[in-house]
Amino acid sequence: ANQKLWGGRFVESTSALVEKFSESVSFDARLYRQDIAGSKAHARMLGKVGVLSATDVDKIVAGLDAILAEIEAGRFEWSEKLEDVHMNIEARLTEAIGDAGKRLHTGRSRNDQVATDLRLYVRDVIDELLQLIDRVGDGLLDLAEREADSVMPGFTHLQIAQPVTFGHHMLAWREQMLRDRARLVDCRKRMNLLPLGAAALAGTVYPIDRHDVAEQLGFDGVTENSLDTVSDRDFALEFCSAASLILVHLSRWSEELILWSTPMFAFVDLPDRFCTGSSIMPQKKNPDVPELVRGKTGRVIGNLNALLVLMKGQPLAYNRDNQEDKPPLFDTVDTVTNCLAVYADMIPAIKVRRDNCRSAAAKGFSTATDLADYLVGKGLPFRDAHHVVGSTVAYAQDKGCDIAELSLGELRRFSPLIGEDVYERITLEGSLAARNHYGATSPAQVRAAIARARSARKE
Ligand code: ARG
Repeated sequence: ANQKLWGGRFVESTSALVEKFSESVSFDARLYRQDIAGSKAHARMLGKVGVLSATDVDKIVAGLDAILAEIEAGRFEWSEKLEDVHMNIEARLTEAIGDAGKRLHTGRSRNDQVATDLRLYVRDVIDELLQLIDRVGDGLLDLAEREADSVMPGFTHLQIAQPVTFGHHMLAWREQMLRDRARLVDCRKRMNLLPLGAAALAGTVYPIDRHDVAEQLGFDGVTENSLDTVSDRDFALEFCSAASLILVHLSRWSEELILWSTPMFAFVDLPDRFCTGSSIMPQKKNPDVPELVRGKTGRVIGNLNALLVLMKGQPLAYNRDNQEDKPPLFDTVDTVTNCLAVYADMIPAIKVRRDNCRSAAAKGFSTATDLADYLVGKGLPFRDAHHVVGSTVAYAQDKGCDIAELSLGELRRFSPLIGEDVYERITLEGSLAARNHYGATSPAQVRAAIARARSARKE
């Protein structure tokens, strides 16, 4: 005989090794809140359609509430012998309220139960992540406003390209995060359908009301096909994919912050509380937080990969393989939550070393394009202008100064078209101010972008 909830047809009990091998309660216990909410809704619905008596429903709901309190107080005894979160809670319920507890699972399977729990869980997670993303985005907006006029070099190929404002750079980061936000919202919308009722795979013989359960649990509707419902983990994959992109973005920011806080760049100071020292080199202040975020990105991409491979060989409908979806999913949830939280704290505290940013832009001939554009304005074809400016840059480089530091006489050696008005174009501020259209880097446009962002936030 086998004492399990499902043990009726078994002649021997499960091997201890298999119990240990197949249990999931050590990680899926974290679904207890969703599991209890789903069970309460299921029981209430069974009461409404007459499958359960009102007394049984009341006992079940009160029993589940008591179990919730036990778990949250740390008084619940989880047992690996009971396999997973679902059977731990059901067994405790029956222990507490007797036969009514045994009736809860009528018209339901763990297959649609776990699918429901997971969707509820990912939905809750997304709601929390959206708030964190908004904190990060608002921090970037404030930093962009503070640094709307601060000049820094913009890079292509990590070589100095053209001047930009630090504010513009922060708004670029924010755009990445806004797309990440939209992806999560989209994922939430697609997954917000109720699986319960699919039962094991084919539906159930009881006169259930799936729409009632959906409404109780805040789903927008019910899933369409029972076979698909119990085997679908697309929503977890979409979530892990959106989470991977979030981390890819944070990792890119991290890479920049790490470079920018080296003495060679010295564009920013990260506050001490986000850094650590070296046990041997007394001078060191290491940017551990961005480094760890960059490193943890690998884990999250790995988790996405694990889920993709987990799903690719599965025939319909439910397979126990699916139990393996949880560790990578949960690890991704924890990692993306922690990384966003630490960035939300760190961003407002980033100190910009404006003088260093400015002198890096000045040293890098970042206004060479502006000189070429100036010559185009005087009638020179762009290709010729490009050539003239190339020679001017080579000359200034030999001399060890910026092109804006050359005298008019020196500049005119390269083109007689150059006049006194060139200086307002080839200074850093002149270059920035000239890029003055929607989406460009001039301080005026950066301020306009911030104003648009703030009014969109209020909507
Ligand atoms: N722990 C299982 C999982 O995570 C629950 C579903 C089990 N269903 C089953 N038929 N064994 O997928």
